[in-house]
Amino acid sequence: MKTSGNTILVTGGGSGIGRELARRWHDLGNTVIVAGRSEGALAETAEGHANIHAVALDVSDAADIQRFAREVTARFPALNVLVNNAGIMRYEDLSTGRDLADAEATVVTNLLGPIRLVDALVDHLKAQDGAAIVNVSSGLAFVPMPKAATYSATKAAIHSYTVSLRAKLEGAVEVIELAPPAVQTELTPGQSTREGYLPLDTFIDQVMAEFESGNPPAEVCVPNALFLRNAEKEGRFEEALAMTRSF
Ligand SMILES: NC(=O)c1ccc[n+]([C@@H]2O[C@H](COP(=O)([O-])OP(=O)(O)OC[C@H]3O[C@@H](n4cnc5c(N)ncnc54)[C@H](OP(=O)(O)O)[C@@H]3O)[C@@H](O)[C@H]2O)c1
Repeated sequence: MKTSGNTILVTGGGSGIGRELARRWHDLGNTVIVAGRSEGALAETAEGHANIHAVALDVSDAADIQRFAREVTARFPALNVLVNNAGIMRYEDLSTGRDLADAEATVVTNLLGPIRLVDALVDHLKAQDGAAIVNVSSGLAFVPMPKAATYSATKAAIHSYTVSLRAKLEGAVEVIELAPPAVQTELTPGQSTREGYLPLDTFIDQVMAEFESGNPPAEVCVPNALFLRNAEKEGRFEEALAMTRSF
């Protein structure tokens, strides 16, 4: 993926990881479109950044994705990079029957959202020079957190889907997975100040070092993510699961 001169769509660009990536890509000389449900948050990301543009999108709504794809490709025909970053994380108790609304929303947002958005944009992307798709998974794709079982399952699915997408789009669209470790954002209440989580600035610096190289790896895994990412292949799966179970 080129470091500048792209037109990059970042879903979930109104906060956290998406907001900071959007601003950093903007400052490198890219046009950036931030998308999400809260228009106020998107406007705040764009404020003071001439080439960040806010477009409302609900990735959990199939019809809205279709509307959005038509609008964004008409307004920004040079769009060549899709960053599937929007996501939600809900804690749940699997040990008893319960209301599944959170689990269902998690699947629709974190898994169906990216699948639908890729589908809506893939033909457009394939026609662009330097096209790329960046899917944001999680260290929890590789070792689940039982307290966030559906969330972890959607991230494991995004990892798998990204492997398939890379194989099918080889030579046409670069496909990159970004697997964050625990980072200080408001993904869950209180997380932005939780001790032991990686400060957002540090995480973004580490991620952007990979993208600024102009040749990011297929999987962008910062050092803190490697404990979970490599647990199984390094024979530490049970140890890692014991840790994620303790949360
Ligand atoms: N922080 C971590 O520890 C961590 C670790 C691993 C992976 N990740 C992943 O990183 C990504 C970004 O998370 P974050 O930590 O930056 O948390 P965040 O600040 O809560 O960002 C999530 C973004 O997703 C957007 N979003 C949620 N539902 C949406 C929907 N239906 N349609 C459109 N946008 C939607 C939210 O905006 P609106 O609510 O305004 O729509 C928000 O801007 C997520 O995919 C998350 O799973 C985070």
